[in-house]
Amino acid sequence: MRQLTEAQKKRIEEILSRMTLEEKIGQMNQESPSIVGGFDVPFSELIEMLTDGRLSKEEFGKIMSTSQQDYHEDDIRAGRVGSLMVQDPAKVNELQKIAVEESRLGIPLIFGLDVIHGFKTVFPIAIAEAGTFDPDLMRKTARMAARESKAAGVSWHFAPMLDIARDARWGRVSEGPGEDPCLASAFATAKVTGLQEGESPDDPYVAACLKHYIGYGACESGRDYNTVNMAMHVFYNHYLKPFKAAVDTGAQTVMAAFNDLNGIPCTVNKFLLRDILKEKLGLPGFVVSDANAIRECINHGIAADDFDAGVQAALAGMDMDMGTGIYKNQLQKAVEEGKVPMEVIDEAARRILSVKMWLGLFDHPYVDEASMHQYDVLPQEHLDLALEAAERSIVLLKNEGDILPLAPSAKISVIGSLADQPEEVVGAWALSWRKEDCVSLWSGIQKEFANAKYFPCGGPEGGLNEEEITEAAAYGDVIVAVLGETIAMSGEASSRADITLPGKQRQILEKLLESGKPVVLVLMNGRPLALEWEDAHVPAIVEAWHLGIRMGDAVARVLCGKKNPEGRLSSSFPAMTGQCPVYYNHPNTGRPASKSKFTSRYLDAPLDSLYPFGYGLSYTSFDFSNLNVRDQGDVLMIGVEVKNTGERAGTTTAQLYTQDVAASLVRPVKELKRFAKVTLEAGEIMRVYFELPKNELGFFDNEGNYRLEEGLFRIYVGQNSRECLMAEIWEK
Ligand code: GLC
Repeated sequence: MRQLTEAQKKRIEEILSRMTLEEKIGQMNQESPSIVGGFDVPFSELIEMLTDGRLSKEEFGKIMSTSQQDYHEDDIRAGRVGSLMVQDPAKVNELQKIAVEESRLGIPLIFGLDVIHGFKTVFPIAIAEAGTFDPDLMRKTARMAARESKAAGVSWHFAPMLDIARDARWGRVSEGPGEDPCLASAFATAKVTGLQEGESPDDPYVAACLKHYIGYGACESGRDYNTVNMAMHVFYNHYLKPFKAAVDTGAQTVMAAFNDLNGIPCTVNKFLLRDILKEKLGLPGFVVSDANAIRECINHGIAADDFDAGVQAALAGMDMDMGTGIYKNQLQKAVEEGKVPMEVIDEAARRILSVKMWLGLFDHPYVDEASMHQYDVLPQEHLDLALEAAERSIVLLKNEGDILPLAPSAKISVIGSLADQPEEVVGAWALSWRKEDCVSLWSGIQKEFANAKYFPCGGPEGGLNEEEITEAAAYGDVIVAVLGETIAMSGEASSRADITLPGKQRQILEKLLESGKPVVLVLMNGRPLALEWEDAHVPAIVEAWHLGIRMGDAVARVLCGKKNPEGRLSSSFPAMTGQCPVYYNHPNTGRPASKSKFTSRYLDAPLDSLYPFGYGLSYTSFDFSNLNVRDQGDVLMIGVEVKNTGERAGTTTAQLYTQDVAASLVRPVKELKRFAKVTLEAGEIMRVYFELPKNELGFFDNEGNYRLEEGLFRIYVGQNSRECLMAEIWEK
């Protein structure tokens, strides 16, 4: 990936040499358009009023529509702003013009935004897309998002989110690549490549921002923003891996996480920011805080006040302050009082200028305002990629009696309020889409099935309409129940203590099943759900997540069989909430769970997850056989035979896991090391090979040292983390 040239580095030093202390600190300040006027309470109070119901959504919307937004023009003119969150091209140019033509040194602004899974063309949420196990697809969707957002003047994506997550009570599990470090690392590399691979200003590229560094997905009890404590060997072997893969790929920036890690908030954690991220991994660009996170160090109980928080953050290696103004207002005093050395400020400013130079903003600071019009109607290429990503993310969880696929002539009752809400397909953190581009499930199903009829019946927010349920049960020969979570039930600040289907959706299913008609459950959700009851009672279950603007078409194409489902789970699904956190790559313990009482198990829950990592069914079937492991010196050559034993073509994902059976540290019972998509015609056989360098059989200890030890290793290959062939080898 493109690096800064020597000439560019020289130019940065020349600019830096002319900057005043205030201007350097200005680069370290990110502003969001704050809300002013229009009402006589602080914005934070307004949010409280909305949250506690004193203000309705309508009243809030009215107030917001009448308020002006303060874009901090005077601060920009004075060189006190380095970055803003704006996505309107005309506004971007207006503000950029002030920075470039009216500030003393004309340093351009960098405009950032949460473009997590698409800009105008919204793709599947990350937990779904990771389940395609197709890094090239992940790269393509990132590339397209970069292209679209650059046309709006957005050069910096607060993405990819790389938080390993094992506890589905956490709402942000929707935003990341699941529970496995190998899959998450492939996702990370693909996303950073897609976002940053462009080679010139007219070959659009943006700066990636890896988040949330680090351990955020391990928040205690799955409660958002909660404390995080973990052994360092888990930190190095699981949570750090995708960030390392992304920095190795050339990622330009990182966002620090809200949480503390082992007692020190990431925002002021020198070990994490300087020692690991900047020194050990070699991050080339800068670190930005999460929103308001520097000030929140006071709540953490680690800073006495704004000044103390700002000093600690700067010293720890936090280069840019998102949204508090603490750097803008306090850092000059901190430097003058000798609390923060000048070289800390120089380093931060240098890192920020280097990313702006890397983006070409000094030579091309403006956006062509006409450019966004190419997306007034989304190009077919964009719509096609959205459909491909959506349909390939769908996971078939159950298909008893091969109810699916349904005949196009089938008489179908489609139920569930989510099915007819196009705006619900985009998922959490979709900021720039248009409702008219979104295809609801009901809209998509009507295209494929002539005899389908829709009955709302109720949904995640609690409704249950007996009459519509009766009508739905009477009409169709088969019932497609679209149930799950609204977007608001996953994503940030959306932890749930009970992750069964919310509202009365299970009761709706019960009533439908009483009809004796076959029911197909299609899930629209942002997290693994606890589906023990559904798995026991519903004959067919399709995990459709929040798939983006083409969701309705994708689901319909899977239901009618035009698309044979190939998605796999990037996160384990618990049978019941009480099993959380549940994940496949767990230690064995001294008493591995079994039917006998005195083992690591629950009295009132199954021994393992309901659906394991890597799991997914197809409309055909596959058989894995003849596993063979050959020791070829530094590498193991692992081969397995895959046969399509069904009646139609299909795609499976061959997964290679290893286990270090006896090591100097407790190791997971399985660790994914490689995966490969395999597409076979009915009856076709293919021998699949994996080349595994022996060096990858090692692990990091609690001090971060990499250990490669001799001993017994197990090699597993299969189509999910639970059903595998196994071979043993002894490594010296
Ligand atoms: C939010 C999120 C972070 C996002 C940032 C800016 O609180 O934690 O993921 O990038 O603020 O919107």
